[in-house]
Amino acid sequence: MLTAVERKIEQFIIDLDDKEVSALYAKLPHGKRLRAKLILSIAGTSLLVVKTAAIVEMIHAASLLHDDVIDDADTRRAKPSLNALYGNKTAIMLGDILYSKGLFELTNISTDVASIISHAVMQLSLGELKDVSLSKSFNSNKSIYLAMIYQKTASLMEASAGAAALLSGKDKVAYMTYGRNLGMAFQMIDDLLDITTDSQTLGKPALHDFEEGKTTLPYIYLYEAMDSVEQQKLQSLHGKALNSEEQAWIKEMMYDKAVIQRAFDEAKVLVEEAITLMNARGESALSGIAMAMIEREF
Ligand code: FPP
Ligand code: MG
Repeated sequence: MLTAVERKIEQFIIDLDDKEVSALYAKLPHGKRLRAKLILSIAGTSLLVVKTAAIVEMIHAASLLHDDVIDDADTRRAKPSLNALYGNKTAIMLGDILYSKGLFELTNISTDVASIISHAVMQLSLGELKDVSLSKSFNSNKSIYLAMIYQKTASLMEASAGAAALLSGKDKVAYMTYGRNLGMAFQMIDDLLDITTDSQTLGKPALHDFEEGKTTLPYIYLYEAMDSVEQQKLQSLHGKALNSEEQAWIKEMMYDKAVIQRAFDEAKVLVEEAITLMNARGESALSGIAMAMIEREF
């Protein structure tokens, strides 16, 4: 059923009537289309639903194009990022084009759906700015981290589920909670994978987040569990290119203090809550999507 979404995105790109944009779009890896999957699983496959899913995926792709420029990322989904291939200017403009086309198409859905999605895009942008600001110093505050990942990642999944509930006359609050929990867990696991997966499997350099100044949940827990000498050492490595010895020390400390497991368990609680909500509604496909998230190798 996702192919209908792919075709709709392709149609939106063709509408732009620009060969360069079509060629650039063709270079973008599609990813898991998690947001589209959520929308279709909640609301079915009517034209309006497929269009909404296509719009959300275009906005998401735009946000990743900008994110890779902001994060200086050379790779995305194990392939060279668009900024690496064609430079920052092209990546930013393709992002703007996908984003503005998405917002334009949103006006053809409904005011309610347009409002919920565009509000989430605002949150995404606020969250990304917070991510950038936080990375300038060592953040050891968990609630600040959680608020940032809610805005940066969970808000669009929450809004996707909410829009789908609106389109299908389902209970908006329950589905939005499901989307928010999934989004929070998704980002927590993405942050864990940056630590636990080797760079080849990950398709991007490992421990890149910390080198970029991001203190994700395992770093926050690690800091909490350390004595003051260790804390000082960890802080001194923050935001720097790490040699293999420093990388090994961080990883060893993380396993010693069991913070990887602690962060994963926290993501798991959110996913289990989401599963319970959907099981109560007989939404087995949605429970399955949530389950798959915590069954990933990490
Ligand atoms: C990935 O985070 C980034 C996001 C989920 C949101 C990015 C949002 C913006 C750039 C603002 C919105 C912009 C537009 C054009 C709609 P990450 O760097 O932690 O994850 P990664 O490992 O996938 O890079
Ligand atoms: Mg990034």
